[in-house]
Amino acid sequence: MKTGITYKSIAQVDADCIAVGIVEEKEQSFDIFARFGDPLKKYLESQWDNGKIKGKELETTYIHTLNEKGPRTILLVGLGKRENITFENVRAAAGRAVKEVLKHNKNGLERFVLSLWPEAGEKLSAERMAHAMTEGAFLAQYRFSDYKQNSEENPQIKELVLWAPRDHQNDAEKGIVQGAAYARGTNLARDLVNTPGNLLPPAVLAERAVDVARRHGMEVEVLDEKEMKKMNMGALLAVAQGSEQPPRMVIVKYQGREKWDNVLGLIGKGITFDTGGISLKPVQNMEEMVSDMGGAAAVIGALETIGLLKPEVNILVVLPMAENMPSGKAYRPGDVITSMSGKTIEIVTTDAEGRLILADAITYARRQGVEAMVDLATLTGAVLVALGTHTTAAMTNNEEWVEQVLEAAADAGELMWRLPTFDVYKKQYKGRVADLRNAGGRNAGSITAGMFLGEFAEDTPWVHLDIAGTAWAEENSDLSPRGGTGVMVRTLTRLALNLSNNS
Ligand code: BES
Ligand code: MN
Ligand code: ZN
Repeated sequence: MKTGITYKSIAQVDADCIAVGIVEEKEQSFDIFARFGDPLKKYLESQWDNGKIKGKELETTYIHTLNEKGPRTILLVGLGKRENITFENVRAAAGRAVKEVLKHNKNGLERFVLSLWPEAGEKLSAERMAHAMTEGAFLAQYRFSDYKQNSEENPQIKELVLWAPRDHQNDAEKGIVQGAAYARGTNLARDLVNTPGNLLPPAVLAERAVDVARRHGMEVEVLDEKEMKKMNMGALLAVAQGSEQPPRMVIVKYQGREKWDNVLGLIGKGITFDTGGISLKPVQNMEEMVSDMGGAAAVIGALETIGLLKPEVNILVVLPMAENMPSGKAYRPGDVITSMSGKTIEIVTTDAEGRLILADAITYARRQGVEAMVDLATLTGAVLVALGTHTTAAMTNNEEWVEQVLEAAADAGELMWRLPTFDVYKKQYKGRVADLRNAGGRNAGSITAGMFLGEFAEDTPWVHLDIAGTAWAEENSDLSPRGGTGVMVRTLTRLALNLSNNS
């Protein structure tokens, strides 16, 4: 989808369709109707007076203009009450508009104009407004290209044009660049998550990360099994040993400042498929464990967006990758392993593998001297019970650091909520014969898993994000089809940009 910008009067833009935002306030919506001139204006006013059009959030009305010049069709999109318009509303409305217009145009469209600008008194800056529209449109248009011999038709919009007030040209253009970049990283993460386990083993996932890093001129290194052994990454190696697919660890350096200091560590769980290992998972929904590299995918997606937007911040990415399989070589319950940190771990269940590979990744990042870090992982089923599928769980050892991450999530329009890390939970994962156990029982499963990671973060400011509920969508929605959501790409990018601005 190409992007563009127009300042022409909305009744005059040349387009297959123009989507126009309306609000619940009659006066403002009538102002918009007036721009289309008679007889359309009269028709729309009567529809409003009959209660057919109300301007409610996500309400859509599709109208054929029968004109040869100007827009051939108009899609009215409700934005709700004008005073309540937010970044998220505008993004959602853009997503709904794209979905709706594609439903009416099964062969796609050449030129689609989005004009969601509320009338006077905008609460959002022009940049945020354009960003929200672009991001919403690109996220809504995403579809994973499937493996069918006769692939279902996939209607596309060839050119997306935003209508913007002429005096906001520069800011609107900036917003378009941002929105497109955020969506591109998110959609890349979705593609990675949606790719099946047989086609994306650790070595291939590593290559994909390398591609992104190289394309943006970032320094990248891939560790193989031999190097992991040299570094005593006993936890990562234990998880990987049951699989025919060798593990990888990808290290990327993004240097956005002159000096390599103040480094932000980003760490993502990259289990390319999680069978549970010897502690085999039940059959039901096991195929969704293709999403168990959602943490790594989020970081790779964020690298793409960061590569495009180039914040002035230094980032060290550490992505441990392995496949968790049962076999004659697999690690077993009862095994005692030694992590890179030296801490010993007794294995209670081989299905608690994420925290093991992350333990070594966190130790690696710490030894590289990161100033603060964020790890992302589809870590626990328990987080689905606690927060469901909309909200990512955050845990920390540092109040100021988690505030910055929560703020980035709010800026990006991604939901996030904290879980506690009280000391009393520690005895749940204290080892009997080793320092730690890799599972702390059913109660507070997400908290004990997160706190287990905290043992390896030690005194480095750290935030853990459990995305097991949010990385995968069961159902289609306007902004995300079923499958990988690309959650946290936008939060991580925003975090990097916020750190860049603060310096
Ligand atoms: N990858 C799973 C967590 C998961 C579950 C992600 C559902 C997405 C959806 C993780 O490796 C796992 O198996 N966790 C176990 C931990 C338990 C054995 C302590 C879990 O949550 O059941
Ligand atoms: Mn598991
Ligand atoms: Zn897992």
